[in-house]
Amino acid sequence: MAKKKKSWINQHLNDGWVREANKQGYRSRAAFKLEQLDKQDRLLKPGQTVVDLGATPGGWSQYAARKLGEKGNIIAIDIVSMVDIAGVSFLHGDFNDVKVQKSFAALLNGEKADIVISDMAPNISGVKDKDEAGFSDLFFSILQFVDSNLRSGGNLVVKGFEGVSAGELRKKCKRLFQTVSIRKPEASRDKSRERYLVAKGYFGPNSFRKTN
Ligand SMILES: C[S@@+](CC[C@H](N)C(=O)[O-])C[C@H]1O[C@@H](n2cnc3c(N)ncnc32)[C@H](O)[C@@H]1O
Repeated sequence: MAKKKKSWINQHLNDGWVREANKQGYRSRAAFKLEQLDKQDRLLKPGQTVVDLGATPGGWSQYAARKLGEKGNIIAIDIVSMVDIAGVSFLHGDFNDVKVQKSFAALLNGEKADIVISDMAPNISGVKDKDEAGFSDLFFSILQFVDSNLRSGGNLVVKGFEGVSAGELRKKCKRLFQTVSIRKPEASRDKSRERYLVAKGYFGPNSFRKTN
């Protein structure tokens, strides 16, 4: 086994959040990132409709299902298949895909989501300009999705990376939401540049188009 891969596996197995995830039956340590964001920003409540973009293996959806209990509607989407989670409807495919969006609209049945959460990232190439462009494209696709599917007053959580067009994207979100905060949950590895943008109080459909 290559040295780099072996050291990543050792680091992963020695990670306290991984051990805690195993103990609590979560499929990924990422569940604790959402838990910590939720505790700080009070995002998830029983009765909500939650959309989890890029959900596999399912830690965030598991956390949302536990928090919402039976009084919740969780729709998870991913290009990689996901083992079923009770209380979560899964759509297999790219969230930009027209077919996936049609199935999604059918599940929402004319309703809008209370919150959209995204832990997606573009494929990282290591080439700064290329990665910035990939990240911006993904972010704008998420905002387009939000424009059609999030209710007025709803909230958004999106994974981003420090320094990658962050200022521009944050500015954009400030025109669409009442408050925008950048968070680094404790469960996010110190050396990772990942950050989470938490935007609350959506101004409503078409705000995205109006600001373009
Ligand atoms: C970091 S993982 C998500 C981990 C998840 N939050 C958890 O708690 O287990 C990111 C996921 O985003 C998915 N993804 C990336 N781009 C996507 C797209 N355009 N449409 C749907 N899923 C996507 C990937 O397949 C991957 O499973």
